[in-house]
Amino acid sequence: MRILSGIQPTGAPHLGNYFGMMLPAIELQERGEAFYFIADLHALTTVRNGDALRQYVHELALDFLACGLNPERTAFFRQSEVAEVPLLAWVLSTVTPMGLLERCHSFKDKQAKGLPASHGLFSYPVLMAADILVYDSDVVPVGRDQKQHLEVTRDLAIKFNETFGTVFKLPEPLIREDTAVVPGTDGQKMSKSYGNTIPLFGTEAELRKKIFGIKTDCTPLEEPKPVEGSTLLTLYRLVAGEDRAKEMEESFRQGGTGYGEYKKQLFEAVLDYFEPMRRRREELQKQPGLVEDILRKGTEKAREVAKSVILRVRQAVGI
Ligand code: ADP
Ligand code: TRP
Repeated sequence: MRILSGIQPTGAPHLGNYFGMMLPAIELQERGEAFYFIADLHALTTVRNGDALRQYVHELALDFLACGLNPERTAFFRQSEVAEVPLLAWVLSTVTPMGLLERCHSFKDKQAKGLPASHGLFSYPVLMAADILVYDSDVVPVGRDQKQHLEVTRDLAIKFNETFGTVFKLPEPLIREDTAVVPGTDGQKMSKSYGNTIPLFGTEAELRKKIFGIKTDCTPLEEPKPVEGSTLLTLYRLVAGEDRAKEMEESFRQGGTGYGEYKKQLFEAVLDYFEPMRRRREELQKQPGLVEDILRKGTEKAREVAKSVILRVRQAVGI
């Protein structure tokens, strides 16, 4: 089984990225041959500063390695290092109906907000389809917000196969229901673009500020607190585990404890959960050249597979 996923280097990864994509991807490494990449080409649709992008890529690579990406087993690389990807994106774009892309949220949302949308943003899902199809991927672990992109990928693969004969495997998304949408500090989906994130490796002061800033209702301290839809409880369940979350839930129902106390418990649980990874990150950071060595090796492995798939594509379309 080949497992593939990508993450954009657009800022510090947060609990949503970790529980929605990074952790499932890390756990899957043992179950097959994994290919994980940093989607720097996709990030170009939003990051407009070369130095900043290079820095984000480096930091994200350290973050992912610290969280448990195993470079001995998994090919870890930069998207832009595999030239077959943009080549395939072009070929796929020639079988992509405009209407299909016009219906995609990433583009529609930006347009609805009246923000300028580039051609790159419009064709974002085609590049993503190329990322997936060029490695003959079987499963793609992602958060729920990427579901539509996976559907586009499958649609394009089917359309291409119908037109030119069977070339592509049809990939399956892997979306874990329990962590498909991790809420942010304002209760909406946690996302870098909403400014509601809790970063994995923020300083203690930063984490404290974010967690104590989580929006809660104004139930008085002594009264029972609503359990349904509570961001605090949802996040606590992720970092503290089911048993401790049950205890907190029970205490919500009983009343007599204020939200400040629950926030303190969540803050401590987040620190504890990421403590080993934080230490590992510090160790990795001390080794100059390590990240680049890992990404170089990963690139070699990725290119090898991409080359063989592109041969099939060239053969089929006549280039
Ligand atoms: P962001 O929305 O913060 O920019 P990305 O688009 O870089 O995040 O997402 C990277 C990965 O993390 C994707 O697989 C995405 O589905 C997942 N992800 C992002 N936010 C969440 C969330 N709040 N809950 C679950 N998964 C998420
Ligand atoms: N669009 C994804 C995101 O924003 C990143 C990504 C790019 C990706 N290419 C991919 C994810 C291929 C999975 C497979 O998170």
